[in-house]
Amino acid sequence: MFNFFSKPQKPISLPYSTDIHCHVIPGVDDGSPDVQTSADLIVHMQKWGISRIFASPHVTKSTFENTPATLAEPLRQLRAELASRGNDIEVNHHAEYRLDDFSLAQFEAGTFMSLPGNYIMIENPFVDEPWFIDQVIFDLQVKGFTPVLAHPERYSYYFKRRDRFKALHDAGAKFQVNVLSLAEAYGKEQRAMAGYLISNGLVDFLGTDLHNSRHAEIIDAYLSSKHAAADFAALEGHLLNDKI
Ligand SMILES: [Fe+2]
Repeated sequence: MFNFFSKPQKPISLPYSTDIHCHVIPGVDDGSPDVQTSADLIVHMQKWGISRIFASPHVTKSTFENTPATLAEPLRQLRAELASRGNDIEVNHHAEYRLDDFSLAQFEAGTFMSLPGNYIMIENPFVDEPWFIDQVIFDLQVKGFTPVLAHPERYSYYFKRRDRFKALHDAGAKFQVNVLSLAEAYGKEQRAMAGYLISNGLVDFLGTDLHNSRHAEIIDAYLSSKHAAADFAALEGHLLNDKI
């Protein structure tokens, strides 16, 4: 993480105001556990310049089998809490679909949750690339959806197979890099890979992937580091966040 050995700068804002990757719907995944925490995290995000949120609860087989039905009431409660604080930020949700049987069944049935513009967020397992990923990217586009691959810089099996990044991107997947990766929250290799994707013009969205207050502190430190301005300058003109 940054900022420990260099003098902190004045914090800058994120280079977008619409966040499409965060776990702030209360009690539905490994992100915020309750409504108060969710509202606190959202207030924190507003300090970074976020004014519109499309939260992305995990959808994973067995652990977090979220559907529109499981998310409606937690979202209603969160909006009520924000309203009671006089906070009128726009909060919606889509989902982060781990590529497994459960998600594939939802894609098949056409019951999945997407972003405006028909973007749908998919996530690879961390152990291995799904053998069917090329097919999923093709099939979703046939259905009229554009897949957004969450944090490609975190999948270590791509580190020595960087050609896959271009192949997936050329096949029509958009890439969403985590601000937390830029902040070195997961390690130096993930940070390096995020830099590689930026310098190769392969980053279409940034997202916080905020789960908790520890993450928020890491992003705070990053926004006060000299790295943030350089990263954001390199991304200028590329981000689709505020175009959806
Ligand atoms: Fe996530």
